[in-house]
Amino acid sequence: MKNVLITGVDGGIGRVLALKFLKEGFFVSGTILADDVNWQDDNLKLFKLDLSQADSINKCVEDILNFNQTIDILINNAGILIDKEEEGVVVEKLRKTLEVNLIGTIDFTEKILPQVKEGGHIINISSSAGSLALVGSGKSHYPGHYPAYKISKAALNMYTRTLSFRLKDKVIVSAVNPGWVKTSMGGQEADLEPEIVADNIFNFAVSKPESGNFWFNGDKMPW
Ligand SMILES: NC(=O)c1ccc[n+]([C@@H]2O[C@H](COP(=O)([O-])OP(=O)(O)OC[C@H]3O[C@@H](n4cnc5c(N)ncnc54)[C@H](OP(=O)(O)O)[C@@H]3O)[C@@H](O)[C@H]2O)c1
Repeated sequence: MKNVLITGVDGGIGRVLALKFLKEGFFVSGTILADDVNWQDDNLKLFKLDLSQADSINKCVEDILNFNQTIDILINNAGILIDKEEEGVVVEKLRKTLEVNLIGTIDFTEKILPQVKEGGHIINISSSAGSLALVGSGKSHYPGHYPAYKISKAALNMYTRTLSFRLKDKVIVSAVNPGWVKTSMGGQEADLEPEIVADNIFNFAVSKPESGNFWFNGDKMPW
């Protein structure tokens, strides 16, 4: 049985993705921010994780290592968008956004890396909002909006790219734009159902794409 580790399975894309992997016969380790999530499955193990807290990251990694499972696929899905209505940078929101979407995600990944199997796949869930190439092109988000979120995803993309070089020929590393998805983050006016997105991400995750790229629905995206 193959193992996937997904961060942020409390709700949104992460939860539906975890359900998809369970349906496809994977053992799923999922992290939750809430103290408890009323969800059980023989092939599911939940771990508490707050990516904004170094202690929580250390404890979560320790718990996962004690559980002693190697990881075929790691999906860094957890993330926040707290400056949706802002047009300028609000430094406290930037700090918090970077703590979760970037620094916490990197800290967690680096510490869990020894558990990722050779031939495995690490996916960082990014966003078209993090594409430098698309800013102002009309294909991305209104240029002034949510700068903290955009900065965090652009930087996560750079982490993806540099990690892919470090892990060359050992582990595939990808950034994935899920599209605009109906979740608490995306809102109900979004154009994609989480189940469709989970299917797309699953199919991509089990494929063997060229490492170090930015993807949407199996097609390369510009950084
Ligand atoms: N929805 C979209 O349209 C869209 C578009 C592009 C990219 N994305 C990306 O897709 C990923 C999933 O987004 P989503 O739409 O599913 O959002 P969501 O519904 O808000 O889910 C985000 C997940 O991250 C968890 N989380 C929040 N803060 C955390 C923290 N400090 N530590 C650990 N976990 C934390 C949440 O837990 P709680 O539920 O307990 O808060 C939840 O499980 C994110 O990386 C997001 O940036 C989404």
